[in-house]
Amino acid sequence: MRAVAIQHFGDPSGLQVVDLPTPSPAAGQVVIETEAIGVGGVDAMIRRGTLDGYGFRPGMVPGSEVAGTVMRVGEAVDPDWIGRRVWAFTGVGGGYVEQAVAAVDDAVTLPDGLSSVDAVTLGSAAPVAHFALAHGRFAPGESVLVRGAAGSIGIAAVQLAVRGGAGAVAVTTSSQPRGSALRALGATHVLDRAGDGDLTAPASYDVILDIVGGSRLPAFLDRLAPNGRLVAVGMVAGLPPADLGMRLLEAFQQSRSFSTFSLNTVPVAARDQVRAESFTAAARGELAAVVDAVLPLDAAAEAHRRMDDGHVFGRIVLTP
Ligand SMILES: NC(=O)c1ccc[n+]([C@@H]2O[C@H](COP(=O)([O-])OP(=O)(O)OC[C@H]3O[C@@H](n4cnc5c(N)ncnc54)[C@H](OP(=O)(O)O)[C@@H]3O)[C@@H](O)[C@H]2O)c1
Repeated sequence: MRAVAIQHFGDPSGLQVVDLPTPSPAAGQVVIETEAIGVGGVDAMIRRGTLDGYGFRPGMVPGSEVAGTVMRVGEAVDPDWIGRRVWAFTGVGGGYVEQAVAAVDDAVTLPDGLSSVDAVTLGSAAPVAHFALAHGRFAPGESVLVRGAAGSIGIAAVQLAVRGGAGAVAVTTSSQPRGSALRALGATHVLDRAGDGDLTAPASYDVILDIVGGSRLPAFLDRLAPNGRLVAVGMVAGLPPADLGMRLLEAFQQSRSFSTFSLNTVPVAARDQVRAESFTAAARGELAAVVDAVLPLDAAAEAHRRMDDGHVFGRIVLTP
């Protein structure tokens, strides 16, 4: 079968089409004929070699979420899965393929009316946004800032905060068109990457979801209201400075908190339930899946080039 592997780490040209044996499912696994493959920020970090401490080797197939039809099942898997349209998490890699292997526990049946492209746009992002807001103890009426809102997690977070009755939903983005698109999804204030640019925006926030990290993160701790919570969800700009905690201690009387959030800490059943609810909401038109581009699997390098150029809004999806 056709697949795309990282033949060398670094620039996107390292992503090359290869021929791999058709996979057989082990016990507890399903094999899915892929219709859509999500291109994630983590795929780009792995390909760039930024995560080289994790022991990735050339020949690795990136991609962690796919949607398609179950073709084969392994031992201890109900044969009724065969023929079902599903979304599935394939792990840290293994997604850029015509036939993907996933644990049946990481597969969720798609509702009628939801395309595979929309499924891989929301399948990971919507649960991350949902549980990150919950981790920040977001409550109706509170003000929210989504830092790095133009990616698939931020886009979902904006919509969920609006639906959850936020008093204000501010976003950061480096682009005016992306800001306008985020407003159309319900954002009330559009800020630049430094958090400036709208004098009418709240001076402080009850909840900040931070997908960016990097050197500017401590300055955003200063934007927390008394008892405000900043949840670090991603680190697209790298790690923040090590003395980050000093910012909280210097504002001791504000009772602010900083935490990280990873979906890995959410029990699988809860994750799958929220994922299925997100899919149903999307099929009903209550949650928008924002797709930047749909490209053929063979154009994976081009997809990564576009991500590196920094003009992507939402998700790039590959189709075999
Ligand atoms: N917590 C979890 O369980 C979980 C699960 C999956 C992924 N993640 C993490 O989430 C992140 C990817 O999320 P995503 O796909 O939604 O994000 P993304 O699309 O990679 O980036 C989001 C936005 O951040 C802005 N940005 C990019 N580089 C920046 C920089 N150097 N400085 C400031 N802003 C920058 C860009 O918007 P503008 O150009 O418009 O500013 C970009 O659209 C990764 O760090 C990944 O590890 C976390």
